[in-house]
Amino acid sequence: MDEKERKLEEEKKAKKTHLKVSRRAFLKGMGASAIATTMTSLPIPPIAEAIPLPIGLKEAVIQLNVNDRAYRLKVRSNWTLLEVLRRELGLTGTKKACDRGNCGACTVNVEGKAVYACSLLAISMEGKKIVTIEGLADGETLHPIQKSFSEHGGYQCGFCTSGQMMAAKALLDKNPNPTQKEVRAALAGNICRCGAYPKIIESVLGARAKS
Ligand code: FES
Ligand code: FES
Repeated sequence: MDEKERKLEEEKKAKKTHLKVSRRAFLKGMGASAIATTMTSLPIPPIAEAIPLPIGLKEAVIQLNVNDRAYRLKVRSNWTLLEVLRRELGLTGTKKACDRGNCGACTVNVEGKAVYACSLLAISMEGKKIVTIEGLADGETLHPIQKSFSEHGGYQCGFCTSGQMMAAKALLDKNPNPTQKEVRAALAGNICRCGAYPKIIESVLGARAKS
């Protein structure tokens, strides 16, 4: 090996060493910055808004008309009307029981129809007129349906009662003088675990033509 070849060989060796050192230093640096990145991007649990939405979920600001009052609120696309009424608006007169459209405890009126609030997405209620049990009385004056339930003892534990009343309201608004058969049909989607059905039907019949 002549002088020229020896010099070239030395230069090559020096380059390799430099590359090795740089790579190690680079990886070390990467490690530190990766840790720093992970730490700064961790969600901050105490603030609800800081938790990222699960994939596929969206948020929207909607306006709800509940009991003749307008509410503007941010909802997630998977929140039910029942959740929003009870948790976000504090209207807990609408009851949560099965939470899957089987019992009628959560019945409210939307555009005059009796519906299960647990089976509707709040985000789809934009601009709709919603009435809950809290909207039935006129101040201190009970609605005729409420009076009749009270007079006829149309409840035992009372858990199903708000749903029964809202189903009755949808019926009587449409048909002020229903037959017993029509009352039974209209309330067929409302289960009473106490079995107070005879008194419930009596109560709705007692409210006929007064609502
Ligand atoms: S809670 Fe909605 S139907 Fe049972
Ligand atoms: S009164 Fe108890 S569930 Fe109906």
